[in-house]
Amino acid sequence: MQYSKQTIITNQRLIGDIFLLQVTRPEGEIRPGQFFMLKSWNEELTLMRPISVYRYDEDSLSFMYRVAGKGTQWLSQLKRNDKIMLLGALGNGFPCEEVHGNIALVGGGIGIPPLYETAKKLTALGNHVDMYLGYKDVLFAFEEFENVCENIFISSEAGFEGYKGFITDLLKPEKYDAVFTCGPLVMMRKIVDMCQQHNTPIWCSMEKHMGCGIGACLTCSCKTTNGMKRTCKDGPVFKGEELVF
Ligand SMILES: Cc1cc2nc3c(=O)[nH]c(=O)nc-3n(C[C@H](O)[C@H](O)[C@H](O)COP(=O)(O)OP(=O)(O)OC[C@H]3O[C@@H](n4cnc5c(N)ncnc54)[C@H](O)[C@@H]3O)c2cc1C
Ligand code: FES
Repeated sequence: MQYSKQTIITNQRLIGDIFLLQVTRPEGEIRPGQFFMLKSWNEELTLMRPISVYRYDEDSLSFMYRVAGKGTQWLSQLKRNDKIMLLGALGNGFPCEEVHGNIALVGGGIGIPPLYETAKKLTALGNHVDMYLGYKDVLFAFEEFENVCENIFISSEAGFEGYKGFITDLLKPEKYDAVFTCGPLVMMRKIVDMCQQHNTPIWCSMEKHMGCGIGACLTCSCKTTNGMKRTCKDGPVFKGEELVF
């Protein structure tokens, strides 16, 4: 984990308020489900912003982000060859080595991108991976998953693609040896309930406001059965049974 200044390779709007940012790869190991703190502004905002790792190769690192407020608005204005500060890779990531067999990855909205490298790694380790992708208003990133999983199930709340409704309606936890999920809290809570009914192990990637990203400020505290934990340092991935929603 270290600070580094990287160069923008591309930064493009994919659809609506969803952007894809590709930067030169920082040194060091990166694991699926980890995140970086990003900063491309000087005075106006002090804090860096957490964004999950979407894809990486030897030379580059990509993030997919939704413009939510000032920080992500700044990010969206970056151009090729601009510089950006990164801190990372941070957090524990998904426990890909701990699971075996048939694995379901369930992503909701902007919780989908961190599942790409996760699917790729699980498949490379010899698992059978099914993707469940739930969208609300716009469709993005689904084609990417075709090469890294066996089946893709898509839902959209408005019915513009795939099943009309919630992605949780399609998931059958009893078919799987483990489930990983990232997305809105209400979706993850439902999936934890469903998995617990079938004794299917489940891990959730939590999203909390973050100040430092390195375990120092306690902004990102998360209630668990083992007391308060720091989402940035102890997570962001937690076992479902440990979380107090
Ligand atoms: C570990 C982690 C990984 C993340 N990965 C991604 C990602 O891959 N792509 C992506 O688009 N976003 C991701 N986020 C969320 C992203 O960090 C926030 O959207 C971003 O910090 C908002 O900054 P801003 O300055 O644009 O908006 P702000 O002005 O700070 O906030 C705008 C609005 O978003 C809300 N908000 C800000 N941060 C969060 C948060 N952490 N959780 C819920 N609501 C928040 C605020 O309450 C406010 O309503 C991640 C967050 C965490 C903690
Ligand atoms: S963001 Fe500071 S402790 Fe987690």
